[in-house]
Order: sequence, then structure tokens, then C-alpha cells
Amino acid sequence: MVKHHTNRYLQDTNILNSHNRLIAEEITRELKTKIVGSNVIILERTTSTMDIAKKLAHTSFKNGAVIFAEEQTKGKGRSGHTWSCPKYKGLLFTLLLKHNMQPDHLCLLTGTMAVSITETIRETLHLPAEIKWPNDILIGGKKVGGVLVEFEKGLKKQSIFLIGIGINVNFTEEDLPGQASLPATSLAIESKEPINRNFLAKALLQDIDKWYSILRNDHYRYITDRWKEFCITIGEKLTITDCGKEYTGKVIDISNNGGLMMKLENGEIKIFRGEHATIKY
Ligand code: BTN
Repeated sequence: MVKHHTNRYLQDTNILNSHNRLIAEEITRELKTKIVGSNVIILERTTSTMDIAKKLAHTSFKNGAVIFAEEQTKGKGRSGHTWSCPKYKGLLFTLLLKHNMQPDHLCLLTGTMAVSITETIRETLHLPAEIKWPNDILIGGKKVGGVLVEFEKGLKKQSIFLIGIGINVNFTEEDLPGQASLPATSLAIESKEPINRNFLAKALLQDIDKWYSILRNDHYRYITDRWKEFCITIGEKLTITDCGKEYTGKVIDISNNGGLMMKLENGEIKIFRGEHATIKY
């Protein structure tokens, strides 16, 4: 068990910057990445970092650029949901990746990100984060983060993936959304201490860069193995909605390209892709 006062990811009041703001220089200083975080932009307030990333995708931006926002007025979640987060209390960002990946590997990209977030939370804060397939990050069954992947054609028809990540970092109990499909929590609530968001952002960008290089080298198996290790959905009996149709069965595996493999009630084995399917709560 790690002693909290010795963990640099927890907010030490001596290094607390005036309002615990995100600072680009703190995140990029000695950042050990090849692609991710090539450029870090921090916005005080925007509609959604996805909107800004979409615009940037049509310019000659640097691959791996990351846009953080301290506040979003129209934060987007998956499946048309909204994403809300009190100012200065989350990690809200979109990462832009120039990536020629086959469209059916979109789900793997979501998994790569979910694995990175979960691994970072486990390794830096020693909290038991888990993945609810495909993109929900939970602690003790409560949602602490999520991933939203969008696709855009940039200059010269270049394929660009916009990876939106939202993490509830320094929320107090009062900050938690009252009504959500899943109960929510934050890293600070689970750690019982405020978290240093600059350290956490840096650790996360480094971990994403590591897993993204594994994806680029086509080592999908490493990703799905780690995903399975963190995934609480395997073995569950559930109902999934896919293209407007409902299917009930038992989850038996994550497929090689990141789909959810289920044994349906009629005995049929079916694989659901994350970009179409949603688990019913
Ligand atoms: C989900 O679990 O539904 C995905 C949530 C993704 C939220 C992040 S916050 C940063 C980026 N900008 C947005 O508007 N959405 C993503």
C-alpha cells in the first residue's frame, strides 16, 4: 500500500500553483513520448475540445497535438450524451492522431485509450480502476472517466482520429452529477486527497504514447490481453443495443479487433463493435 503523502501524483500543497491550473510547460517538461503531446494547448473555456480538434484537423497541425480545456460548455459524451465537469476539476482533452487505420480497428483505438487510462490510474494512484467495455473507466462500479473517438478527413484526405478523454479528477461529492446512467465518482474522492492534474496528465500522455506505439506496430494481442485483464464486462450476462436491435446473452471474450464477443440466448456467438453497440444498464 502506498503512503499518500509520498505520492507525487497527490496534490502537495507546497507545489500547488495558484488555482491548481493545468500548465502546458509542466505537462511537456521532460515528457517522454514520441508522438503524443507533440504540442499541448490549454484552453480556459471552450464549447468542446472535440470542436477545436475538428477545426485543427483541417490545418497542418503537428501529429499528436493535444487540446486540454479547463471548462467545456458543450462537452460531448458517447452515444449523444453530454459530458459535464466543474472548472479546474477534471482532465478534459482531445488528442489528434494522423493514423491510417482500417475502419474496423476503430474499436481497438478506444480500447488502447481505455487501457492507458486504467493503467495510469492504477500505477500512479494505486486505485483499482477497471474498464466497462468499450470505453467506461470505473472504480468500484462508479464511472470516473470515458473515451470518445471521432474520425475526420483532414488536408489531402488524411485520416485523422480525434480521441476525446474525460476524467473526473478533483470532484468533491457535491460536484457529482445527480442523474446519470451510471453512478459517478472521482479520483480525489477515491484517494481521499486532491490530485495533481499536471502530473497525472503527463503520466497519462506517456502511457497513451506507449500503448499507441504498440497499436502502430500491429501488436493488437498485447492490447486485447491487457484490456481483458482490466475489463469487468467479461463473464457478465447483459443486454446490448446494436443498430436499434437488442441482444441478450453472456459476454465470453473481447475479439482480436476489440469487439465484444457474446453467446446469445439462442446459442449464437456474435461480436459487437464498440462504435455501434451500447450496453443497456
Ligand atoms: C463517454 O464516456 O461518454 C466519453 C466522454 C468523453 C468526454 C471527453 S471530455 C474531452 C472531450 N471533449 C468532449 O466534448 N468530450 C470528450
